[in-house]
Amino acid sequence: IDNIIRILDKYWMVFLVGLWYTIWIALVAVILGTVLGTLIAIVRMSKNKVSKSIALVYIEVIRGTPILLQFYLFWLGLPYIFPNISDLTSVLIALCINSSAYVAECVRAGIQAVDSGQREAALSLGLTERNIMLKVILPQAIKNILPALGNEFIVMIKETSIASIFFVGELMTAFKTVQSNAFLALEPLIIVGFIYLVITLTLSHGMKVVERRLNAND
Ligand code: ARG
Repeated sequence: IDNIIRILDKYWMVFLVGLWYTIWIALVAVILGTVLGTLIAIVRMSKNKVSKSIALVYIEVIRGTPILLQFYLFWLGLPYIFPNISDLTSVLIALCINSSAYVAECVRAGIQAVDSGQREAALSLGLTERNIMLKVILPQAIKNILPALGNEFIVMIKETSIASIFFVGELMTAFKTVQSNAFLALEPLIIVGFIYLVITLTLSHGMKVVERRLNAND
């Protein structure tokens, strides 16, 4: 306990910066991942067989390989195309791509979970395909998708820790920095673990509140 207090007193700024990096990296990954993932979900559900299978392969390859491998792949590969790219940018791109594959499946599942009777009813009322999607299906699908996106953000908060092998500055990097400066490992690890817990528990509690609101008018 004494050591923990001493470390907090001396290195609180390092942890704070790490916390900030963890949050913004995860946030950017989820936001860009959602944009990209939604596009992929649309292609995946389209009628064109070729683009459909490309989307399917994209999703399966990303979900079927470890995120650590993807970090290495982008970190090694991207500098060939962009020689001046930073480690952080490479890692961020890898995270966005990784997230997009998972989000694409969330979006697809969320849309397909809307009862088919809704679509049939809208068709019988003479709505166009476009209006059926925008005015009938999507407003209901959002309720399924939003909680999944909140979950994805929590997952991303934790997955950023793996990027610490490239010292990108998030919480696990903060742990390594403090460890090598203070010559103490367990104490900063406990501090960082506590910070992760506070973020994830706060987020999952916030999600429950939002979910209750979303379902209030069912
Ligand atoms: N940890 C797993 C992996 O290495 C899962 C990654 C989860 N990613 C996500 N965006 N939900 O592949």
